[in-house]
Amino acid sequence: MARIILATTGSVAAVRAPDLCSALVAAGHRVEVVATEPSLYFYRPADLPAGTPVHRDADEWPGEGYARGDDVLHIELRRRAELLVVAPLDANTLAKFALGLCDNLLTCLYRAWDFARPVVLAPAMNTLMWDKPATSRHLAQIWSDAAGREIPADWSLATAEDHFTREGSVILVPPQSKRLACGDVGMGAMSEVVGIAEAVRAWSERSAPAP
Ligand SMILES: Cc1cc2nc3c(=O)[nH]c(=O)nc-3n(C[C@H](O)[C@H](O)[C@H](O)COP(=O)(O)O)c2cc1C
Repeated sequence: MARIILATTGSVAAVRAPDLCSALVAAGHRVEVVATEPSLYFYRPADLPAGTPVHRDADEWPGEGYARGDDVLHIELRRRAELLVVAPLDANTLAKFALGLCDNLLTCLYRAWDFARPVVLAPAMNTLMWDKPATSRHLAQIWSDAAGREIPADWSLATAEDHFTREGSVILVPPQSKRLACGDVGMGAMSEVVGIAEAVRAWSERSAPAP
């Protein structure tokens, strides 16, 4: 089975991180977690399956200072991971991925990612955040960068999933419409854990060597 990095960002949907991590481990994957600092407001690393490594921003800057030959954590993580799953992907990190910003462990990992290996993105945000034109623009940029193609003229939030499915190495697990944790009702809630686990299962099946 695969070596997977499960990255969590500061959406309330990060409360599901232990369940998602457990589902991936139960499917036989070796999972390491990369957590943004805001995401750790929503779950405790102790609630992840026993032994799951959790990497956070401070781990990028160990010891008294850099010494020649020291490992660079985001590069080491990139080298050993076969799949990056960002769930939940909040509006802030979505924007940073799209713009190429890299000011924490996760965004450095994404910026240094080799798109020969896929990335699963599961956005989660308030409906008014999801509906802002920035969301569509940022997803379009991410798709275009990963697929190496110009943004199609028909790009919209409604067509985004099709484009991600047809081309490129980013797999979009779209959000769902429901009552959000803040009480608003509408699009933006993260997909159910089973939906994200299913996207990983489908990738795993496609990438398995032929018998
Ligand atoms: C209680 C709470 C819930 C939040 N939920 C979300 C959310 O579901 N989606 C989102 O995009 N931002 C949400 N935010 C805002 C992010 O946490 C904030 O933008 C943060 O800077 C994200 O940092 P990160 O992307 O580095 O994890 C929430 C903030 C708080 C305080």
